[in-house]
Formats: sequence, structure tokens, C-alpha cells
Amino acid sequence: MLTKPVQTAINRQINSELMASYSYLAMSAWCDQQNFTGAARWLRVQSQEEYGHAMRLFDFMLAKDAAPVLASLGDPKGAFKSLLDVFKTAYGQEQGVTRQINALYELAFKEKAYDTAVQTQWFVNEQVEEERSMREIVAKLEMVGEDAPSILEIDRELGSRAPAAGGGEGE
Ligand code: FEO
Repeated sequence: MLTKPVQTAINRQINSELMASYSYLAMSAWCDQQNFTGAARWLRVQSQEEYGHAMRLFDFMLAKDAAPVLASLGDPKGAFKSLLDVFKTAYGQEQGVTRQINALYELAFKEKAYDTAVQTQWFVNEQVEEERSMREIVAKLEMVGEDAPSILEIDRELGSRAPAAGGGEGE
């Protein structure tokens, strides 16, 4: 049985992961409209991954016979100044998720919810990768500045991202 504070925290995390999915979808739409089709693809795959993150926690709750409570999602940011602005926003978002995951991990130990701690550990590792990839893209975009051919080269590179395995679930 999951304690009430643990259930509340997992529900909140499900909402954050779904909000991240929604947010990356909005970024993907903006990129597509600006003809950054590679970044649009990359962000759509990221959106699917975030959906998968939410489903991991959703399924964990069900396995523990706890009811996932789905709260409303806010409006995602849909307008950006540049491709760099998109990925800076994404990086900031991931840093926020890392703080939440760390708090969930800490709470799991406090509540002696060891199954939740093990489940959350996967996310702790995942956040290291997520922050790293966002940070690298931001750094590359900062490096090339306003140079259009270089920005388009980065966009092309981003377009080679493979689809999320299993349609995003469990990624
Ligand atoms: Fe699921 Fe990007 O954190």
C-alpha cells in the first residue's frame, strides 16, 4: 500500500510528465512552422518519451492498487524567439523535473516506500541523460549564434533522432 503523501507526489509527477509531453509537442509545432523540421521531429519524439514516463508511474500506481488521479494540464508555451529559445526553455524544464524527481526520491525514503524509491531511481538516472542532451543542444546553438547554415546543420542532425521505442511507453 502506498502512503497518502507518496500517492500525492506520484500523481503530481504524472501530471508533470504529461505537462512536459504537452509542452514538447507545442515546441515541435512551433519548430515545424518555422521550417525547423529536424528539431520538430526531435521534440515530437521527446514528447512521446515524456508520455512514456507518465505511463511508467501510472502503471506503477495501478500495480500497487492505488488510483492515479489525473489533474488538468496548463497551456504549454507555444511561441518562441528562436530555436535557441526553444531548447533553453526545454533545458529549464528538465532542470525543474530533476528537482521534482529528487524530492520524490527523498520522500520515498522518508516514507519507507522502498518500491517507490526503486521506481524513482530509474528517473534519477534518466534525468542525467535528459539534462545532458538539452545542455548539449543549447551549447551548440549558442556556439553557432546567428549563422543560418550552421543552425540548419544542427536542425538536420536533430532530425536523425530515432522514434521512441514502443511509441514512447517505458522510455
Ligand atoms: Fe520525463 Fe524529461 O523528464
